[in-house]
Order: sequence, then C-alpha cells, then structure tokens
Amino acid sequence: MTDQPDPGETTTATAPAATARVLLTLAHPALERSRANRALAKAAKGLAGVTFHDLYETYPDFAIDIETEQATLVAHGVVALQFPLYWYSTPALLKEWFDLVWLHGFAYGLDGNALAGKRLFVACTTGGAAKAYHAHGYNRFSMDDFLRPLEQTAYLCGMVWETPFVVHGAALKDDAELKAEAGRYRARIASLLTAPADAELGA
Ligand SMILES: Cc1cc2nc3c(=O)[nH]c(=O)nc-3n(C[C@H](O)[C@H](O)[C@H](O)COP(=O)(O)O)c2cc1C
Repeated sequence: MTDQPDPGETTTATAPAATARVLLTLAHPALERSRANRALAKAAKGLAGVTFHDLYETYPDFAIDIETEQATLVAHGVVALQFPLYWYSTPALLKEWFDLVWLHGFAYGLDGNALAGKRLFVACTTGGAAKAYHAHGYNRFSMDDFLRPLEQTAYLCGMVWETPFVVHGAALKDDAELKAEAGRYRARIASLLTAPADAELGA
C-alpha cells in the first residue's frame, strides 16, 4: 500500500500547454488478429506529428517504464488512446499504464500538473452495434457513459476532453467499411494536429 491520496480527494493546478504533437497510444493485446484497430492504426500512424506507441508491443510482460512514459507524455500536447472495448472498459495493460504512470504529484494533486492543458482523445472500437449502446439497448448505457472514467480522469488532470471517436459493430464491418472508418480516423487525428494551440488550454 502507498500513502497516496485517492485521486478524487485532490485538485489540479493548470500549467502552460506543451507542443501540439499527438501521442497515439495503442492498446490491443492481439494486434495480429485485429481487423479494426489494425486498420485505424495503419491509417493514422504515418501522419507527420504523430508518435505511435504500441503498449502491448513495448511491454508484453507489463513491466512499464514509468519514467520514460511520463517523459513521453510531457513531450506531447495531445494524448490519444486507441483500444478495443473489453468488458465495457480498456484492455488490462492500458489500465495498468494509468495506474503506474498517471501518479499523484505528476498527473494530479497539488503539484501534479504535468498533463494540465493537454488534450485527451479516445478512439475505441466495439463488438456491439451502435443501437446496443442505448438506454433501451442490451448494453443499457451509452458509450459516453462507459467512457466516463476516462473523461473524469481528464478533468481531474486539468486536461481537455475531446469528443471520442467510436467504431461500433467492428466485427461485422467489411473491408470497405473499415477502410472508410480508417479514413475518417486519419482526418480526425490530423485535425488534432492542426487545432489552434489555445485549444490545449481549454480556452
Ligand atoms: C475480452 C473481450 C471483451 C470484450 N468486451 C466487449 C464489450 O464489453 N463490449 C463490446 O461491444 N465488445 C466487446 N468485445 C469485442 C471487441 O470490442 C471487438 O472484437 C473489437 O473492438 C474489434 O476490434 P479489433 O478488430 O481491432 O480486434 C470484447 C472482446 C474481447 C476479446
């Protein structure tokens, strides 16, 4: 046990924005079997200004290098997270990355303002169809509801929450549909690169 306070107990000060480069952090435990995330990543990773970071490839043993990850976060203005929805949440390594890297005194807390002013962007694929993510659908809640923990994490850390990019019914999409989604995704990432710097301060 550590003596770190619960994130919910503290507030975060704001700091100047960093440079507007996108850190595209991909978390997929079996990318070789992926269709959707592979197509999305392929479309976005070649963009100038995008740093591609495959978490499962970098840390197959979950031994996350905390200092390197924190330095990488600091060096980017936009933190983009791309993952398949697993049990209404993130894959395990992405959660571990938050638990180990987004620490008190770094990401939140009185002196924890390293991420303040940056933008957090989530791109997520789901097996369930869009109509399932509805009060009257079999998943009963909206995607916004399931992404609320990430949205609140952004808020706690003084970050700007970007509208998420979601691909529903990923398994049922044919190659042409996935290609169209990948094109939309590339355009969205490109728009994050070109947005005015003051957007990173939430102005
Ligand atoms: C362990 C596991 C849990 C999953 N949980 C969900 C879920 O909660 N909701 C959902 O819509 N799809 C769920 N799926 C389906 C995946 O989200 C879907 O297969 C993935 O987004 C497709 O992307 P890919 O082609 O990149 O793998 C789950 C799949 C696995 C393997």
